[in-house]
Amino acid sequence: MKLTKEQINFVNNLLNKMTLEEKIGQLTQDSPSIVGGFDISFDELVEMLTDGRISQTEFNKKITNVKRDYHEDDIRNGFVGAVMGNDPKKANELQKIAVEETRLGIPLLIGFDVIHGLRTVYPIAIAEAGSFDDELMQKTASIAAKESRAYGINWNFAPMIDVARDSRWGRVSEGPGEDPYLSSRFATAKIKGLQGDQSSSNNYVAACTKHFVGYSACEGGRDYNTTTMSTNTLFNVYLPPFKAAMNAGACSAMAAFNDLNGIPCTVNSYTLRNILKDEFGLNGFVVSDANAIKECVNHGIAENDIVAGEMAINAGLDMDMGTRIYLNHLASSIKNGTVSMDVLDDAVKRVLSVKVWLGLFENPYIDEKIIEQYDCAIPKEHINICKESAEKSLVLLKNEENILPLDKNKKFTLVGSLADSPDEVTGSWALGFKSKDCVSIKKGLENSNANFDYYPICGPNTSINSSELDSAINSDSDIIVAVVGELKSMSGEASSKANLILPGQQREMLASLLRANKKVIAILMNGRPLALGWEKENLKAIIEGWHLGIQMGNAISSALFGDINPSGKLSCTFPSVNGQEPLYYNHTSTGRPASNSKFTSKYVDTPLEPCFPFGYGLSYTTFKYDSLTLKETPSSVNVTFNLSNTGKRPGTETVQLYIQDVTASIVRPIKELKGYKKVSLQPGESQTVTLTLDKSEMGFYNNMGQYVLENGLFKIYVGGNSKDTLVSKININF
Ligand code: BGC
Repeated sequence: MKLTKEQINFVNNLLNKMTLEEKIGQLTQDSPSIVGGFDISFDELVEMLTDGRISQTEFNKKITNVKRDYHEDDIRNGFVGAVMGNDPKKANELQKIAVEETRLGIPLLIGFDVIHGLRTVYPIAIAEAGSFDDELMQKTASIAAKESRAYGINWNFAPMIDVARDSRWGRVSEGPGEDPYLSSRFATAKIKGLQGDQSSSNNYVAACTKHFVGYSACEGGRDYNTTTMSTNTLFNVYLPPFKAAMNAGACSAMAAFNDLNGIPCTVNSYTLRNILKDEFGLNGFVVSDANAIKECVNHGIAENDIVAGEMAINAGLDMDMGTRIYLNHLASSIKNGTVSMDVLDDAVKRVLSVKVWLGLFENPYIDEKIIEQYDCAIPKEHINICKESAEKSLVLLKNEENILPLDKNKKFTLVGSLADSPDEVTGSWALGFKSKDCVSIKKGLENSNANFDYYPICGPNTSINSSELDSAINSDSDIIVAVVGELKSMSGEASSKANLILPGQQREMLASLLRANKKVIAILMNGRPLALGWEKENLKAIIEGWHLGIQMGNAISSALFGDINPSGKLSCTFPSVNGQEPLYYNHTSTGRPASNSKFTSKYVDTPLEPCFPFGYGLSYTTFKYDSLTLKETPSSVNVTFNLSNTGKRPGTETVQLYIQDVTASIVRPIKELKGYKKVSLQPGESQTVTLTLDKSEMGFYNNMGQYVLENGLFKIYVGGNSKDTLVSKININF
């Protein structure tokens, strides 16, 4: 976020005119409360939708039938700087109060969780990162920005860039997977997409990177739990995506719920001030997570709300989401000197700067005509990009005897109730879609005139219907396409799981079909890596479909019939069985690497290898890597190799570059992703591919949090996934 001199002056002049109360108001984010109809808060209602207690349709019904209290008087009195919401008409009404009826006319930030699209819901982040397509990731974010702004939202609680190495944590679905490098590129693309197109104030929003920091490393994958890690792990693994986001100009960040090495992130001045603001250069503001300031009392770090608020603002937490602790207590803390005016002014300046940068003072309102257009239909361009993203994010995990692609004219049997569940394609944190826009897998197959019978049989939370199972077994086709996986409410916030195998009786259904000698192809719909050892062993083919968004059905259908050739790769490692988690490819070197001999680092009752490694994904064609050479230049290593399409179809391969620092002053990972590129080849075609490895990327953070480049031997790997690679060595003097 860059402000001009005039804009900086504007902020300073405005600050000079503000009363203490008006300043504190700017640091308060309010949410509407629900009145009448039912007795719960809006936040809880959103929670019920997110965790599956109510469907999107029920949510929409409740929301339209009840009244909401938007606390207009508080806005009028200048007590509110930001609100949460996605109602366009209301957005204009509230902005009008803020702009025309407050003493200083400061517009509101209107924030909302637009994590992977608003009306046009595109693939969940863990899926989309697997497209390894930065340009596409940027495009989907820019669609989200435009749609948000059209609905009055000017501040998106995205991107979520928590590097996640434990699939038991439900929120793995919301972020770009387990790798810091891929997550950093994802973060950069998302910030550019959300904030980059400033040609009109209709095109961009302020991004809010989250959750800062270490939230995903919660103990045992249990959401909201404690996080303990070394300085070098924090700097090498969890911080890089945030650094990338700040380099790309991210306007704001959300502090995480967890404590990090004993200090809750909400009141952690080391992470908020020293790292995020001073070192990474955030010149926008930090917001707490929902109710998190109050939760510092539960953490046992503050004796009451007043102290929690003082600790938070002093630590650099600029805006309070949802507790009103700043509003109720900061003024007396300022008066009694526990919080200084300088600290307060700095926080207020940061919030005002984002408002100025967004152009809210010039254009606080939205054009309600645009909403009428959206209400009729989503723009075709948005649908097309959404479909492309779904097609490029799905991953072919197994294809025995090249059973895929299917012949469209040959009849098959479709099973699994998820196949006919339109809303489920959207995944967790999809709060603005309309069911009519969602293409289920069954609908997608119908759209392509496929020849199939359908028996739902069972789903993640419904038991087997034996007459439907019998019908599927007795059907005349020997090919079964089984859509299995998780409900969207089974991943996302507060959805940690100890058991990662297919939920309910889905595996039993697959086993019954196999016993009847059917050839079973699984299409997975899920928000986290599942333990797929049994499925890998027994099924003919597997497509990882994640929650691919509203075009999921059309994308899956294109892949099943070969209208597209799958090119997605896994952004995270898949276990064979539950107990392997946390499981990730870039673990540090041990003294006893896993092997068949007993006294090595492994489990004695699981395979040594993961079920599917990071970066893995097949194609309907095959690729061969050979002739790896390394050439050193003063600033880089040019990594060159030959890639050939050795199959019968055109295809796109994501070539991946990994390094290993063989001897270093601290133990380093066995492999680290440092580059990737997508290469498209015709059958029989070969290409010499060069990836440039910048030498400045070959260092690491030591235990003091300092970035160091150490001379010595490096291994350089290239390949189509993190396991199957060519390798060469090079000695580097920096
Ligand atoms: C989540 C955040 C989200 C916020 C506002 C919290 O419960 O952790 O990711 O942005 O709610 O909805």
